[in-house]
Amino acid sequence: MSESILPNPEKIIAEAADFLPLLGTDHIEMLVGNAKQSAFYYMSAWGFQPVAFRGLETGAKDEVSYVLRQGKITLVLTTPLNSKSPVNDHLRDHGDGVKTVAFWVADARKSYNETISRGAESAFEPFVRKDDDGEVVLSGIKTYGETEHVFVERQNYSGLFLPGYMAWNPDYKVEDTGLLYVDHMVGNVDWGQMNKWCKFYAEVMGFAQIISFDDKDISTEYTALMSKVMSNGNGRIKFPINEPAKGRKKSQIEEYLDFYEGEGIQHIAVATADIVATVTALKARGVEFLYVPDNYYDTVLDRVGDIDEELAVLRKHGILIDRDDEGYLLQLFTKPVMDRPTMFFEIIQRKGATSFGKGNFQALFESIEREQEARGTL
Ligand code: FE2
Repeated sequence: MSESILPNPEKIIAEAADFLPLLGTDHIEMLVGNAKQSAFYYMSAWGFQPVAFRGLETGAKDEVSYVLRQGKITLVLTTPLNSKSPVNDHLRDHGDGVKTVAFWVADARKSYNETISRGAESAFEPFVRKDDDGEVVLSGIKTYGETEHVFVERQNYSGLFLPGYMAWNPDYKVEDTGLLYVDHMVGNVDWGQMNKWCKFYAEVMGFAQIISFDDKDISTEYTALMSKVMSNGNGRIKFPINEPAKGRKKSQIEEYLDFYEGEGIQHIAVATADIVATVTALKARGVEFLYVPDNYYDTVLDRVGDIDEELAVLRKHGILIDRDDEGYLLQLFTKPVMDRPTMFFEIIQRKGATSFGKGNFQALFESIEREQEARGTL
């Protein structure tokens, strides 16, 4: 596979017309009850590497944050240091969860002005943060629930993460698990709110809808949901948005909304180039995945055709397979990674496919329903 070095005129025109060029996911900030222990979990179980720290030792009085990285994925874990921090309100309402999805941009002021002029609600106005390594411009807007998008302009900064952070170099070192980048991040929104938020991503952020599922695509005997996938101009940021649909019992989306006490990020899909190696490593370190019934593998090849991997290996790990017009993909979902049944991770390896695993929804939701039943929330 080779990539042309000649500029693609269509791509250049598309990017010129994109009023909000996003260069990628800069970082994801989670507000958590105990950042020190969460950081240890993401290091020891997930293979994230320690990068930077902000807290009492750097002069921060109200919150402490740990920055971890693997591939292009940067996680920030933040905990309040006293009862006055507003982080407490978020934790009381939502438990641990994603507060911020930050984008890497070339111009954080322009990103703010373009989105505010199109109707975004401000989270905070553009401001400059400086230290000896240079300066970063940050601005923020609100999206669904209490989630925020932050624009990070960092071309004049050479430090590890953001000004105000110090290097964090614990003796404890772990091997990574092969995670490369954020493939997509899914939001759960309230009844009847999906179209409102798709319109927000289209009108305020210039995203386009690339896929839509309704409750006929995604329903089991008991539960249903609807979903639309929004993508930015260069396709680097993809946000599926789910809302619940009427089913015979409570859907996993309703369970999320109940326990998160509002709308928010449901799952973060992270890409790997070798899902068998990644999942083997994660399982060995204690990450728990959803169980797929063994009979899934009896018929899956009739649906997806030939694949490079040995079916027995995928069956052993419970890795799911789906195909679209462009190729196939392998994916697997963790159980929720916090005690409230809210956020989880997806591990995904794309082998040409650009879709999201629609062919697996049935098996997946039945698997989630078994977990819901055990929690008494179905
Ligand atoms: Fe996903």
